[in-house]
Amino acid sequence: MALRDILIHPDPRLKKVAAPVPEVTAEIRRLAGDMLETMYDAPGIGLAAPQVGVLSRLLVMDCVKGEADPARPMVLINPEIAWVSEAMNVYEEGCLSIPEQYGDVERPAEVVVRWTDLDGKGQEERFAGLWATCVQHEIDHLNGKLFIDYLKPLRRQMITRRMVKLKRERARA
Ligand code: NI
Repeated sequence: MALRDILIHPDPRLKKVAAPVPEVTAEIRRLAGDMLETMYDAPGIGLAAPQVGVLSRLLVMDCVKGEADPARPMVLINPEIAWVSEAMNVYEEGCLSIPEQYGDVERPAEVVVRWTDLDGKGQEERFAGLWATCVQHEIDHLNGKLFIDYLKPLRRQMITRRMVKLKRERARA
């Protein structure tokens, strides 16, 4: 497995709708492994393929919080939200493509998601709490949407300016 570079906003690839994965190939399995390694290394709790420059509908996540709790690395291929709760929840979100910037986002508190796993089998699960927020945030990435798109325009523009500056500094380093 290998670490992949995480794209930083603004980048046109983060605004694109990703294409469905037609088949779970060796390449897809390698991508998922690399993405998990990259996510844990960052460290982060979720990562979507477009964030490493691959415009495919695949995401990884692990929202286990406690250091003592066993990790739960998940790979979701072609995920679809099948149901959302009426109850909403506000979380302060961040994103590996928008480092060190945070904002409150309101989303359904619970969701049922269907996806294909690495064995090509259909899966379905109901997510709540941080898992629900994370899976919705990552599925947004597959549709070219970022958490800052939910913020007020002025706040979004401020964060984008900071990221432009960060990218300029990194390019110079
Ligand atoms: Ni993100």
